[in-house]
Amino acid sequence: MTKFAFEADNVVKHFGDVKALDGVTLRAEPGKIFGLLGPNGAGKTTLVRMLSTLLTPDAGTAQVLGVDVVRNPDKVRRMIGLAGQFAAVDEYLTGYENIYMVGRLYHLSAQEAKKRAKTLLEQLNLADAATRTVRTYSGGMRRRLDLGASLVGHPEILFLDEPTTGLDPRTRLDLWGIIRELIAGGTTILLTTQYLEEADELADKIAVIDRGKVIAEGTSNQLKAKLGGDVVEFELHKLSDSPKALKAMSALAKKQPTTDESGLTITVPVSNGSKGLLAVVRELDKAGIEPSALSLHRPSLDDVFLSLTGEKASTVASQPVAAKKGRRS
Ligand SMILES: Nc1ncnc2c1ncn2[C@@H]1O[C@H](COP(=O)(O)OP(=O)(O)OP(=O)(O)O)[C@@H](O)[C@H]1O
Ligand SMILES: [Mg+2]
Repeated sequence: MTKFAFEADNVVKHFGDVKALDGVTLRAEPGKIFGLLGPNGAGKTTLVRMLSTLLTPDAGTAQVLGVDVVRNPDKVRRMIGLAGQFAAVDEYLTGYENIYMVGRLYHLSAQEAKKRAKTLLEQLNLADAATRTVRTYSGGMRRRLDLGASLVGHPEILFLDEPTTGLDPRTRLDLWGIIRELIAGGTTILLTTQYLEEADELADKIAVIDRGKVIAEGTSNQLKAKLGGDVVEFELHKLSDSPKALKAMSALAKKQPTTDESGLTITVPVSNGSKGLLAVVRELDKAGIEPSALSLHRPSLDDVFLSLTGEKASTVASQPVAAKKGRRS
């Protein structure tokens, strides 16, 4: 029997009138990054807290490496690491002391805890700041330290709840690098994010969650394919070329090419991105047409979200008052 890294079966969780999880079913393969993508209030943190034994489901079941999170929470806790949405580090201790303390909580000897803290601080590029109190750390440094604390116990499964929210682009790239290293070392990661490009970049498999329900699931490419693949767009110098161009394109496009209002921009749906682009170029050349602009568009996960929910991911307003309350509790 395959053991999933973690799985949820028809999990339901209410907070008063709010149905934070409305029958979520997910399965993640070991050794991969599973991306949970959704807007504010979608239920991401609730699911992470459930899988990490901090919340119990009202209905449904969840397992980590085949171990039930409700029946056997202690065993689950020994296999997981959690870096929550809000860094849980002690402001008044140094970076080193924070990690050392976690090591001792994991029953490491003083010497082992010291060694582990040193290794992790180096791995997370915090060695130089190790002896400073966390109060003086930037947001990105705190997140890295929090990640370090979650790694002390060498977890097989790591839950990262929006690890890069609020970080500048460079710091985010640094963290992506660290996440990739962890994966290379064999860790399985559940990563929640509101950033479509982050899920696209890192996750082997993505579940899109909205209002407590999984509304789509697959690889980034599978999700994009739901939109019907790629699109080549080109612009003509003169309108009189339009009929000729459309005729040339209709021979190769899967669906009918379309023109914009000006009639100068032609959009051609193609099944295979770069090959499609080459085919368009060849047909245009044969027809003696030189476009003034030419580009290949791959649908972004933003497009996917828009087509799945009818709303842009960043503008979905879900229970703003309740969401604020829930996020910190
Ligand atoms: N402890 C709680 N008490 C009351 N409501 C809660 C609690 N935790 C979560 N909720 C509610 O459940 C819903 C899902 O919240 P959750 O924190 O899981 O969303 P999220 O996807 O993590 O959002 P964000 O991206 O803003 O972190 C929200 O409507 C939220 O207000
Ligand atoms: Mg959250």
